[in-house]
Amino acid sequence: MLERLEELRARAIAEMEAAGDKAALESWRLAYLGRKGALTILLRSIGALPPEERRAAGAAGNQVKTDLETALERKRAALEAAARSTGEPPLDITLPGRAPTLGGLHPTTLMLRQICRAFTALGFQVVEGPEVEWDYYNFEALNIPKDHPARDMWSTFWMDFQNKAGERPMLLRTHTSPMQIRVMERARPPIRVVIPGRCYRYEATDATHESIFFQVEGLAVDQGITMADLKGTLYEFARRLFGPERRVRFRCDYFPFVEPGVEMAIDCFACGGSGCRLCSGSGWIEIMGAGMVHPKVLERVGYDPQVYTGFAFGLGLERIAMLQWGINDIRLFYSNDLRFLKQFKGVGQ
Ligand code: PHE
Repeated sequence: MLERLEELRARAIAEMEAAGDKAALESWRLAYLGRKGALTILLRSIGALPPEERRAAGAAGNQVKTDLETALERKRAALEAAARSTGEPPLDITLPGRAPTLGGLHPTTLMLRQICRAFTALGFQVVEGPEVEWDYYNFEALNIPKDHPARDMWSTFWMDFQNKAGERPMLLRTHTSPMQIRVMERARPPIRVVIPGRCYRYEATDATHESIFFQVEGLAVDQGITMADLKGTLYEFARRLFGPERRVRFRCDYFPFVEPGVEMAIDCFACGGSGCRLCSGSGWIEIMGAGMVHPKVLERVGYDPQVYTGFAFGLGLERIAMLQWGINDIRLFYSNDLRFLKQFKGVGQ
């Protein structure tokens, strides 16, 4: 073993002499001192020697290793000195590096987080649900039976699959309201949830309509919840998102799964209510539909409407984002135009 070590030392030193540049020196280092280098392998085999030889071999082996490492350092310094004297430019550490391009969050994500944060601060939990939904949850359980005209409001993507009756019972959800039912089926009051999610409608797209969009649904059910709770909660939400000076307006509207149903508007933050293009001259901007959960809906999930009441609301996320950031075409959201998306880099989350 001692001989083999000496032999390796001689060979290594000779080869090192021959290394003419940094790259050659590095291959030399790998060949001898690297993890799979000749010396490393030889040193490893010392463990297998008979005990009486092991001590001496170990000591000699370590000595060879130290010698080679010292020689390597010396050689490295010599090569560097030579390079300097021949005028080879040294490593220029003042040269700026290439900045890695950092992505940003999509405006939909930014808005989704803002809205969820406003509601979680008010005690709501965030839950999510399926985008492919049963007719039952999307319509039936929400008090929209088969021939109800309200179905016409939602041009719908149906799944191909048929049930035994030859009906197509599944669709891409047209709103997030089916999650009201799913949540109530699984939980017992008190319930306070918001449900953000993608929805689908068979729309002719234009500046304000897309066939894929996001909604945020809200639901609160408990004993003694009244319309005052609905108004207070949504008012607070509007102020958190659009500024503390906002005023709100509730007007009657119709949704089959609430009674009474309302549409909520905020006073136009662009003109302060005097009428401008943003609010189409009315001074008000509609931001969501809402209402008290219909007794029939409560009954359907086994809640006694004499004991429990609740309110629900649903808003179109892109619409809120368009208002917030002055975006004039909803199609911009999902057309992946970097000129659009880049403008949201660094927008507060
Ligand atoms: N789901 C309704 C829509 O898509 C909005 C809504 C939700 C209205 C909850 C009332 C209560 O238009």
